[in-house]
Amino acid sequence: MSLSDSIKNADFKAEKHVPVIEVIRKDGDYTIVGVKVGKEIPHPNTTEHFIAWIDLYYKGEGDKFIQHLGRADFSAHGASAEGANQGDLYTEPSASFRFKALKPGKLTAVSYCNIHGLWEYETDI
Ligand SMILES: [Fe+2]
Repeated sequence: MSLSDSIKNADFKAEKHVPVIEVIRKDGDYTIVGVKVGKEIPHPNTTEHFIAWIDLYYKGEGDKFIQHLGRADFSAHGASAEGANQGDLYTEPSASFRFKALKPGKLTAVSYCNIHGLWEYETDI
């Protein structure tokens, strides 16, 4: 089995796991993008079921290899000494990245749900 066989994608409007990428703005040579899981349908965020992280990758036009742009880890899901989902802190699976890419290319975001596995979304920049 290849890892790529286990990475799912779908229409984000019908699926709560897809890490949707949106270009927020350009700032000179820099691009600022937001990546969010649950854009249309919120994903559960409980001690038992949560989005653990989102990775963002870039592949420039004509490039042979993809590059890892960054990772956002989401650690707080209501854990507490009082028990599951009794905590006061919940991280949301949403992050922004600022980077300088000197040519057009593709961005790919991959998210990981602790129950439903890996999901991806791709867009041109
Ligand atoms: Fe899930």
